[in-house]
Amino acid sequence: MITSMPYNRLREAILHKRKLSKHILVAMVLISSMLLLINIMQDSNEEGDDVPVEGTPTFKAFYNCVYPKLASLRGNYEMFWTSFVNLTKECDGLEEYKALDIQPVANTDEVKYVAFPKRDENITMVTLGIGHDVDAEMRLKKLWPKTEFFGVDPSPEINKDLYEVKLGGNYFQIAVSGKGGMQKSYIFRKEYRDEATMHIGADYFFGDMLQKPRVDILWMDTEGNEFPVLDMIHRGGPLDQRGVTICQMNIEIHKDLMKDITGEREKFHDFVWKLLADKKYIMVKPFYVYWFHQFIRTVIINVADPECTNLYMN
Ligand SMILES: *[C@@H]1O[C@H](CO)[C@@H](O)[C@H](O)[C@H]1NC(C)=O
Ligand SMILES: *[C@@H]1O[C@H](CO)[C@@H](O)[C@H](O)[C@H]1NC(C)=O
Repeated sequence: MITSMPYNRLREAILHKRKLSKHILVAMVLISSMLLLINIMQDSNEEGDDVPVEGTPTFKAFYNCVYPKLASLRGNYEMFWTSFVNLTKECDGLEEYKALDIQPVANTDEVKYVAFPKRDENITMVTLGIGHDVDAEMRLKKLWPKTEFFGVDPSPEINKDLYEVKLGGNYFQIAVSGKGGMQKSYIFRKEYRDEATMHIGADYFFGDMLQKPRVDILWMDTEGNEFPVLDMIHRGGPLDQRGVTICQMNIEIHKDLMKDITGEREKFHDFVWKLLADKKYIMVKPFYVYWFHQFIRTVIINVADPECTNLYMN
């Protein structure tokens, strides 16, 4: 039995303060639980990147039509590539898409599709890969004169003149791809005149060079450099983190461009499944093109971000 003075004093003190301690204990448990709850909520946000439980009605219509058609092809890269266009084309006439004003913008050898704004507003258009041709951009300018054009192509011959003089747009002599960042781009600014081709990360291009939080229209034909850019458009991805929203894209996916197997079928497959999980974009107007090699042309439309839906949907 402990009878020492210090012990008795302690016991007295404990008895005296037991009531108070109880309250403190309860308060501490409450605070801890709250902190724990906040922590869990933050974690789940990070994991899910704020993916909504249900997409918007337009996304749901797209998903409900496309998912059953593609589900059995998941993991089968070859079949997915060869079947994608025919299968998803069947979903192009969905009732919900009538909220969008999608019109063809044709040039001599191809058709782009543009969802036109529902209000009289200035819009931003970016061409990644000009390719000696601004006919479709000229058509778009006629149809929507309040378009500001920004063209990117590493090769200035012909492209710079076409884009600046003929179209009246802004030209960047760079290649936009996946890698880059502040340091590389700093070098680019310093040595711009000496460099024929400089790769700039798409996140840096859109976030720091272009400085347009809403890119209304993006046309991308970068001859095999598509996925480093496309992989940035996912929910919570680099463009989201930079506060850049892309409302619509016309893209071309090239496969095995250098006559080698370069994995585009796998990348395309993975990209489409991730897009379905994002619940942010629909894919419409799919089309196969055969021209030396096979590629897929399709249109991606943002049906989730209010910056886009407020302007492009009823
Ligand atoms: C896709 O449809 C077109 C036109 O109906 C047809 O010629 C082609 O063989 C189809 N492709 C596949 C892979 O089913
Ligand atoms: C739209 O663009 C024109 C021409 O650049 C400019 O004068 C006008 O102020 C812009 N309007 C808005 C609302 O930004």
